[in-house]
Amino acid sequence: MSQADRILRACRREPVDATPIWLMRQAGRYMAEYRALRKRYSILEIIKTPDLATEVTLQPIEAFNLDAAIIFADILPVLEGMGLLLEFVKGDGPVIHNPLRTAADVETLAVRPAEETLHYTLTAIQQVRQALDGQVALIGFSGAPFTLASYAIEGGSSRNYVRAKSLMYEQPQTWHSLLEKLSSTVGDYLRAQAAAGAQVLQLFDSWVGALSPADYREYVLPHSKRVIEIAKSEQDVPLIHFGTGTSGMLPLLKAAGGDVIGVDWRIDLAEAWTRLGDDVAVQGNLDPVILFAPVSEIKKQAARILDNVKGRPGHIFNLGHGVLQHTPVEHVAALIDFVHEYSARDG
Ligand code: CP3
Repeated sequence: MSQADRILRACRREPVDATPIWLMRQAGRYMAEYRALRKRYSILEIIKTPDLATEVTLQPIEAFNLDAAIIFADILPVLEGMGLLLEFVKGDGPVIHNPLRTAADVETLAVRPAEETLHYTLTAIQQVRQALDGQVALIGFSGAPFTLASYAIEGGSSRNYVRAKSLMYEQPQTWHSLLEKLSSTVGDYLRAQAAAGAQVLQLFDSWVGALSPADYREYVLPHSKRVIEIAKSEQDVPLIHFGTGTSGMLPLLKAAGGDVIGVDWRIDLAEAWTRLGDDVAVQGNLDPVILFAPVSEIKKQAARILDNVKGRPGHIFNLGHGVLQHTPVEHVAALIDFVHEYSARDG
C-alpha cells in the first residue's frame, strides 16, 4: 500500500497497513532548509514563486517518512485577491493594512476566480503532484470564512476577537454578506486546488473555537457548509475540517461538512470520536509542545493516542495544531517513525 493510499483510505474509513501521519506546518522555520531559503526570500515571495513553493513543500517529504505533503502557501493571500493589503511583518506576524470595518468596506471586496488571483499556488500544486509521482499524497488547503474574517476585520492576529465579534453582533447583515463573499471565494479556491491535483483538502478554521456553539450555528455554520459544497462540486475529493478549541462544538463542525474532523489535544480522541459518531474520520491530536519533550515522552504520548482509538479505521495522526518554531527536527522524525512502527498492522 503506497503512503498516498494510506491517507486516502483513512479519509474513507477503510483499513490501512499503518496509521497515516502528516503534520500541520510541517514545512517551516524549525527546518534549517527552510530558514536558509528564507534568508533570500520573503514568505510571500516563496508562496508566489511556484518553483520555490514546490521546493519548500518537498523539504519535509525529503527529510521525513511522511504520508502526505501539504502545499506550501498560507491562508491569507486569498484576502489579497479580494482587495486587502497583506504584509508579513517580522516579529509581528500578518498585518492587513486596510481592515474591514463597515458595510461599505465589505461592498468593495471582489469575488474573483482562483485561477486569476491564486494561479501561483495552483501551478505549484501541479508541479508538486508531478514530483511526488503518486507515492505521497498532496493536500491543498484554505482558511475557513470565520478565521479569514477575523484577520480581515481585526487587521491581524487577535486574542479576543472584539472587533470581529462586535461587527457580527452589531451588523449581522454586513457579517453575513462578508461571510458569503468569503465562502464563494474559498469554495472556488478549494475546487480549483482539487482540479490542479490536490488529492485531499483541509479547511482551516483555526480560531473558530472562540465562538459559543450557538453563535457558530447562527453566524458561521451555513457559510462553512457552503464552502465544502462548492469545494466538492466538481470532484469527490476528501476534505478535512479542522479547528482548535472546538471540543464543545464537534457535532456542529461535522454538520457543516467534512470527511475527516480535525481535533486538538484538549479532548481525548476517543471521546471526540464518540461525540462525532461513526460516520466520519478523525485527525489528531498530539499537543505540538510535546515535541519539545524527550523522545521517550513523545512515544508514550503518541502511543496513548493510538491506543485510545485502538486501530479503528479512519484515524489520521497529526498534531492538534501546527509544528512550532524551534521544534527539534529529530523529534519530528522520531514521532513519524514511531507512529508507523507502533500502528503497523498485517496486510
Ligand atoms: O502546513 C504547512 O506546511 C503549509 C504551510 C502553511 C503556512 N501557513 C505557512 C506559513 C499553512 C497550512 C499555513 C496556515 C495558516 N496561516 C493558518 C492556519 C493554521 C494555523 O496555524 O492555525 C494561519 C492562522 C495562518 C496565518 C499566519 N501565517 C500567521 C498567524 C503567521 C505568522 C505567525 C508565525 O508563525 O510566524 C503566518 C506566517 C507563516 N505561514 C509561516 C509559515 C511557515 C511562518 C512565517 C515565516 O516563514 O516567516
